[in-house]
Amino acid sequence: MKKKKISRYTVTTALPYANGPVHIGHLAGVYIPADIFCRYLRASGKEVLFIGGSDEHGVPITLKARAEHITPQDVVDRYHYMIRDSFEQLGISFDIYSRTTDPVHHETASAFFTKLHESGQLITQTTQQYYDEDAKQFLADRYITGECPICHNPRAYGDQCEACGSSLNATDLIQPKSTLSGNPPVLKDTTHWFLPLDRYEHLLKQWILEEHGHDWKTNVYGQCKSWLDAGLHPRAVTRDLDWGVKVPLPEAAGKVLYVWFDAPIGYISATKIWAKEHATDWEKWWKSEDSSLIHFIGKDNIVFHCIIFPAMLKAEGSYILPDNVPANEFLNLEGDKISTSRNWAVWLHEYLLDFKDRQDVLRYTLTSIAPETKDADFTWADLQAKNNNELLAILGNFVNRTIVLTHKYFNGQVPAHAPFTEEDNTLLKEIAEYPAKIGYSIEHYRFREAQAEMMNLARMGNKFLTDREPWTRFKEYPEEVATILYLSLQICASLSVLCAPFLPFTAKKLQNILKIKEEKWEKGGTPLLSAGHTIGAAEYLFAKIEDEAIAEQVAKLQQCKKMQVSQTHHTQPSKPDVSYEDFQKMDLRVCTILKAERVAHTKKLLKLNVDTGIDHRDIISGIAEYHDPDTLTGKQVLMLINLAPKDIKGTLSHGMVLMVENENGELSFLSPSSPQPNGSIVK
Ligand code: MF3
Ligand code: ZN
Repeated sequence: MKKKKISRYTVTTALPYANGPVHIGHLAGVYIPADIFCRYLRASGKEVLFIGGSDEHGVPITLKARAEHITPQDVVDRYHYMIRDSFEQLGISFDIYSRTTDPVHHETASAFFTKLHESGQLITQTTQQYYDEDAKQFLADRYITGECPICHNPRAYGDQCEACGSSLNATDLIQPKSTLSGNPPVLKDTTHWFLPLDRYEHLLKQWILEEHGHDWKTNVYGQCKSWLDAGLHPRAVTRDLDWGVKVPLPEAAGKVLYVWFDAPIGYISATKIWAKEHATDWEKWWKSEDSSLIHFIGKDNIVFHCIIFPAMLKAEGSYILPDNVPANEFLNLEGDKISTSRNWAVWLHEYLLDFKDRQDVLRYTLTSIAPETKDADFTWADLQAKNNNELLAILGNFVNRTIVLTHKYFNGQVPAHAPFTEEDNTLLKEIAEYPAKIGYSIEHYRFREAQAEMMNLARMGNKFLTDREPWTRFKEYPEEVATILYLSLQICASLSVLCAPFLPFTAKKLQNILKIKEEKWEKGGTPLLSAGHTIGAAEYLFAKIEDEAIAEQVAKLQQCKKMQVSQTHHTQPSKPDVSYEDFQKMDLRVCTILKAERVAHTKKLLKLNVDTGIDHRDIISGIAEYHDPDTLTGKQVLMLINLAPKDIKGTLSHGMVLMVENENGELSFLSPSSPQPNGSIVK
């Protein structure tokens, strides 16, 4: 294939959903590789626009808002700024970090839809969807729960059963219930707009299978091929929902654009917003044949970026298609899948708090294990080892030795070198090859390899110093030592250029120590310091990470695992609303357990004698499996004291002790946070 002329790069990163913070899986898969790529391109003098932003629509955001009794806008505001700031602190060098609730985005997405609609690129289809007659709205799949037809989990969702992992259709559920009203939903006709992907099948096959068989990653190509081989079908681009970009048609009241339709248009809206702020043209980034569009994403986004979004761009007609979509596989954490709902993750904002000024340690570790060709695993022990044994022992140590020796022998000035020996010339030649070598790996999206090459240069410097032992030779051969340090200092300067895409904070520190400015990429292979130049004081680039800091993080993770409340448990649909009068009928009190004993011939029952402040009475409680009667005397608990009395195993039990049940069915007491007089009212 003819190599196309590239004048500029439009680089996008998957827009994270603004319903939670960013974790290391996102970073390793998408944002760090994209940042390395963009920093490298800029250093190489290329024109780059690096785009990010929050994906602020979609059903999960509305569910979170409902669960927390806040608006979807509150949810996305909370996370958008948090995500934006944490990216910035990690040095992700976006030119713009935008959001899809921005009015410019609503206009852009809406106009995009209108253009497709008016040029006959969309079709409509009427299907039956579940509708909640009380809430008077259609129900997204996630708003419906019922029994899984496969494993009979009673709390499966309309799109998936989390117990057995099957994907479902809402109509598959046995005894479906709306999470809005708790009532069974009814099927009702609804009309939606569809993008007929089948019309683009031929074009996409030609483009992906024939043109990109050799330059796209095999994991990406493979997924595309299986989609294309299976045949493409029309995809709905609208939804019945009240959160999102309104469908701009009078007959579409109550409908919004499907989140996966509007989100990738977010890249375009972000470009417009950036261009307006910089009083420049946005269109060349998206419509000019000499622009190279690159999408950085995780593997779960492949079909949207390689098939659906390109089909949308073609349907619109005036856009270029991506040149590459370097999608990564997934990152695991300490051997387990990262899971937001189970809180099994290392969150970026927490890392930034716990490891102040150590952004590059995380960047380095995540790049060294980037899941480029297969899933990878992050462990805290590995982060510690990478810091102590590589960053500190190799890069930091080499730089430190060079700077300290320069101060010791040459007053902090770059010495003039003696005529180069053949060995010196070989070293200079090797240094000169690094920018192209590292650059080649970056251009081929092999960031692990690129970073490892950069470290090889530091290794080479370290070995050079160790082999030549300037400290044993200064007395007798000061000129030879001058050359050794001259060369070592040049390697330090090269490293300050070549480590910058990976370790931007370290590069800055190193430039400050050497008192040099940021240089272009190709300069990273040439001597940058002239004799007589004065360098600054030695300063450590990295500090040791102690075992305690790592143990603390591991303990924090284990804690999460213990406290983990299963998703199905957590999100049990709410019961129908009750009136305040209903609530007031319940007499809730703080009581103290006076005596507890097992009920003979039962496994679960305890007979408790409690002081309600009004009287002493007996209660039968089903907690024997979890609580030893001997430990209960004197415990304050919450009780419903006016539950109608009932005879249980020969005891008249009057009232109920309130307990909370976890996902394993274990019961814990609810107690006041400070001791209260018995009979105190709970309200
Ligand atoms: N929010 C999506 C996710 O996290 C990614 C959206 S990428 C975009 O999986 F192209 F749609 F913006
Ligand atoms: Zn199931």
